[in-house]
Amino acid sequence: HSADAFRTDLMTITRFVLNEASKYPESRGDFSILISNIVLGCKFVCAAVNKAGLAKLIGLAGETNVQGEEQKKLDVLSNEVFVKALVSSGRTCILVSEEDEEATFVETTKRGRYCVVFDPLDGSSNIDCGVSIGTIFGIYMMNDGEEPTLEGALQPGKNMVAAGYCMYGSSCTFVMSTGSGVNGFTLDPSLGEFILTHPDIRIPKKGKIYSVNEGNAKNWDGPTAKYVEKCKFPTDGSPAKSLRYIGSMVADVHRTLLYGGIFLYPADKKSPTGKLRVLYEVFPMSFLMEQAGGQSFTGKERSLDLVPKHIHERSPIFLGSYDDVEEIKALYAAEA
Ligand code: AHG
Ligand code: MN
Ligand code: MN
Ligand code: MN
Repeated sequence: HSADAFRTDLMTITRFVLNEASKYPESRGDFSILISNIVLGCKFVCAAVNKAGLAKLIGLAGETNVQGEEQKKLDVLSNEVFVKALVSSGRTCILVSEEDEEATFVETTKRGRYCVVFDPLDGSSNIDCGVSIGTIFGIYMMNDGEEPTLEGALQPGKNMVAAGYCMYGSSCTFVMSTGSGVNGFTLDPSLGEFILTHPDIRIPKKGKIYSVNEGNAKNWDGPTAKYVEKCKFPTDGSPAKSLRYIGSMVADVHRTLLYGGIFLYPADKKSPTGKLRVLYEVFPMSFLMEQAGGQSFTGKERSLDLVPKHIHERSPIFLGSYDDVEEIKALYAAEA
């Protein structure tokens, strides 16, 4: 038997994805290769984030992106690493990144079946102060031989074949779903491997935490304002909820997934379609929430049913524990 200090049956992310793929007889290993390149990008960003302060990666890159945001050096560096890793994987045909105004169409010799939408570095406002940040991705599969067009990337989130995020926090945690549940992996830096640590994550049906930027309260619409009021001053005698807001979507969503509760980025008068981007923030997190037994709502419809019209489209989002999201859906329904 193995020495107690060392587990010998290591469920690495590679082995996990190969196990999943073995359920599909026609699989050719393409998806496993795609995931291993996404994982490579995450390992690079993790290393860069951990030494950002030392490697002068703090601060602005002196450019602004299509979002009108000043790009941080780590935004630009992370984006380059992911684009290069995904193109060289030979398994992608279209890439959509928060940091690139236009979609990337992969040249024919390197083209594969997958369209990857991603936010290479989420929570950029938290880079310089060392607070958790992350990477978010979603994957669509194109039909074989189909000439890649932008429509291939503008699909509703329910068509995604996989989605996930990596959080660069006190540990480096990779959370992913390929459509049959949600699993979490933690990077063992001594091995450079992500090891399965959170099998079959299920979000609690109801939570005690709400997560929203209260600084936008004066611009909220009725139902959002009413819901937050209920969190703070419950009328049914239940205890008030706690407020936790980190300002990195990956960190706020990861806490919500593990502890339960609700995360909101509502529309407001300043940004009538909210702030978060549909393809590479709303869809992947909504996909994961549903796979973990939670749900995600835009204020009008199930988030995954939304059909985006352009690649950087934004949407309000209310996601988390099933019962908590039901409450805000009822408030929007009452107002409709
Ligand atoms: P990004 O850094 O990729 O642009 O995303 C930032 C997003 C998201 O991570 C977070 O939930 C939200 O911005 C926070 O916005 P506010 O600072 O307006 O609350
Ligand atoms: Mn940004
Ligand atoms: Mn983001
Ligand atoms: Mn980003």
